[in-house]
Amino acid sequence: MKKLVLLFCLLCFTGQLTIAQKKVWDETMEEKAKRLEWWTDARFGMFIHWGLYAQPARHEWVKKRERISEEDYQKYFEMFNPDLFNPSEWAKKAKAAGMKYAVITSKHHEGFNMFKSEYTDYNIMNTPYGKDIIKEWVDAFRAEGLGVGFYYSLIDWHHPNYTIDRIHPMSAKTQEEYDALNKDRNMSIYREYLKNQVREILTNYGKIDILWLDYSFPGEFGKDRNDWGSVELLTMVRELQPEIIVNDRADLKDYWGGWDFTTPEQFKVQKWPGVDGERIPWETCQTFSGSWGYYRDEHTWKDNKQLLVLLIESVSKGGNLLLNVGPTGRGTFDHRADNALSEMGEWMKYNGRSIYGCTQATDGFIAPDHTLLTYNPETNRLYIHLLDYPLKNFLLRDYGNKVKYAQFLHDASEIQIGKPHGHWIDQETGENDINLLLPINKPNVEIPVIELYLKD
Ligand code: GLC
Repeated sequence: MKKLVLLFCLLCFTGQLTIAQKKVWDETMEEKAKRLEWWTDARFGMFIHWGLYAQPARHEWVKKRERISEEDYQKYFEMFNPDLFNPSEWAKKAKAAGMKYAVITSKHHEGFNMFKSEYTDYNIMNTPYGKDIIKEWVDAFRAEGLGVGFYYSLIDWHHPNYTIDRIHPMSAKTQEEYDALNKDRNMSIYREYLKNQVREILTNYGKIDILWLDYSFPGEFGKDRNDWGSVELLTMVRELQPEIIVNDRADLKDYWGGWDFTTPEQFKVQKWPGVDGERIPWETCQTFSGSWGYYRDEHTWKDNKQLLVLLIESVSKGGNLLLNVGPTGRGTFDHRADNALSEMGEWMKYNGRSIYGCTQATDGFIAPDHTLLTYNPETNRLYIHLLDYPLKNFLLRDYGNKVKYAQFLHDASEIQIGKPHGHWIDQETGENDINLLLPINKPNVEIPVIELYLKD
């Protein structure tokens, strides 16, 4: 008996028992995998950061970065009128780029609502534009067959009851300063507002595929799950939209159902992310340049190859890519974003088969130098992405007995298997190695892909 009590205490102490009991809803691992299946198959989505900050065009954090007062920020609200906004054009561009779903900012940290809301006047209906952008956007993206998702900022730099914290435009230094700033602010009122707004966006626009909550920053002068009322919030989300897929920024990592996938932002993961050794669903979010919102004078735009590698590498480690566009204040995509999308679309048109429904290659397949592998478990095909085009001989170590047929993906032209060509020196090949004889010239494809039909 004593031993049992001891074990119980130990479990409580290490947190395991409590963690196991914490959940916001019931679902088995298998049910979760099934619910996420369309999304893991899709692999490639569009993020859209659009709000009042498109007008200053100096980053979506401009209000904080420049510590702009409420009064001075007001002009962007009074002027917002994206007269060229054509969501069905956007949706067609996303689709042509090969993207299968999209997530738009319904509200960013600035607190402005791109949707019609009963709970604040600070919403799109009261700008010169005067129409519900979110409604127009959902209809257009759905019509193109794309999955639709909402980003909603937990953070709010406009709401009068949202307490000033360390990332707020009015952030301070000392506890005394914070106390003075926050004496008339009441987070429980904001908490209620937040819940009401999330209910609105998950009720007024039909089925929503993804909810992207952003973000928690626990610690000194920070905010965490208690500030947001995350448990209650997520419980409501699951009730309203049982099939929705939710990211992991509401600070509920230790709750089953508190999140569905993790969100490495603006960097490449070294390997498939996991928790306690279990691989977890993940999606990296990335920008074309150094800003999410439209930033006229920012010039660190990634080139086509970098963007394609971001996508391929994510899939090669079992993840998704959510690639961001920051539309202008007129409602258009920047020409650089247009170019990037169409170049990616050109590649995806011929090579999408190595992306959709694909994942990390099974152990045992070694990626040759300068390549990335992806694998489609349904069709049992392996894809070798040639980041640096080889010269003629292309040796696959230990692939020998596993390969049935090899071809280029973009044109379905056979790649012959044969003894390595060489002069004056013998090329080494092991018994289990096979050698592909590639044409001298790199095909006219940014990153050529070899498709291997594997033996069952
Ligand atoms: C960060 C930033 C934000 C951006 C987001 C996208 O949390 O605060 O501006 O919306 O990441 O992941």
